[in-house]
Amino acid sequence: MKNVLLTGANGLLGQKLVYALKSRNDIELLATGIGQNRLIDQANYSFQSLDITNKTEVDQTVKQFSPHVIINCAAMTNVDACELSQNQCWDINVNGVKYLTNAGAKLGSHFIHLSTDFVFDGEDGPYNESDTPNPLHFYAKSKLESEKIVIENCVNWSIARTIIIYGITDNMSRSNLVLWAKGEIEKGNTINVVNDQFRSPTLAEDLATGCISIMDKNAYGLFHLSGPTRYSILEMVYMVAEFYNLDKSLINPVSSKSLNQPAKRPLVTGFDISKAKKELNFNPVDFLAGIEIMDRQLKTQNEY
Ligand SMILES: NC(=O)c1ccc[n+]([C@@H]2O[C@H](COP(=O)([O-])OP(=O)(O)OC[C@H]3O[C@@H](n4cnc5c(N)ncnc54)[C@H](OP(=O)(O)O)[C@@H]3O)[C@@H](O)[C@H]2O)c1
Repeated sequence: MKNVLLTGANGLLGQKLVYALKSRNDIELLATGIGQNRLIDQANYSFQSLDITNKTEVDQTVKQFSPHVIINCAAMTNVDACELSQNQCWDINVNGVKYLTNAGAKLGSHFIHLSTDFVFDGEDGPYNESDTPNPLHFYAKSKLESEKIVIENCVNWSIARTIIIYGITDNMSRSNLVLWAKGEIEKGNTINVVNDQFRSPTLAEDLATGCISIMDKNAYGLFHLSGPTRYSILEMVYMVAEFYNLDKSLINPVSSKSLNQPAKRPLVTGFDISKAKKELNFNPVDFLAGIEIMDRQLKTQNEY
């Protein structure tokens, strides 16, 4: 039996991992998150409130549960909010990781951490695991620093970098590209969408499957886990509109510069995922297939 401690369990990836792991009879799952459990299905696993910036709480939880594996999905993920609230961002994305890795290292736990394509500057994507990071904004700097801490503090570590996660979960605290575009256009709102940023969008279930492969294979090191195809953000939003038969005239193509966002985004990222394909049998769906999967989930959710 493996004890698996999951942080950030209320988040998009966290929830997918809970649902994927909770029924496995070789795993004892302790899901943790800020505040109450927001998942609808609370059977077959334990939930405990855990703020990863609280060192005492982290130490106690890790000591009591003795995890063989820690999967850290907790993070401050809103890039512009991180730019504007840098202390809070550092506390969650860096100090929290310090506390978790220090506590886990005492037990020799396998530490699985999540990071981002934003560690790269977007000058010449797609990127593979040996490319050199050059973060452009504060969120990216905090995530790169967290990677360094994981590598320094843990003997048995894995870092899964990913790109634009989309999916549907219970009681979501944040939207994502697909839901945002669908929601705004359905309301009849015009949306400004950048035509000069290129990414490989990742279905949350695929990312969860990749993380579970890392755990099951005890795979070590850096892995790039994203969807298989790169699109501009504008192309992705057009695909969402096309799928739902929405009014495309409400989509207003703009340049990144014109948006004047607090955090400067890298332009061209995307990943070379051949290492994950080979070592983890990672086989993510393309964006259109991912939208179809999400749509089926939305329909089921609306039946309740
Ligand atoms: N989303 C993306 O497009 C994307 C892209 C690249 C990389 N990533 C990385 O992938 C990972 C998972 O992302 P995600 O999309 O699942 O993010 P998410 O939905 O924002 O989930 C993050 C979770 O962390 C929780 N959290 C925040 N502060 C915490 C604290 N101090 N202690 C414990 N939990 C805390 C949040 O709580 P609340 O729910 O209460 O806010 C949330 O449930 C993150 O490491 C992120 O940096 C994400």
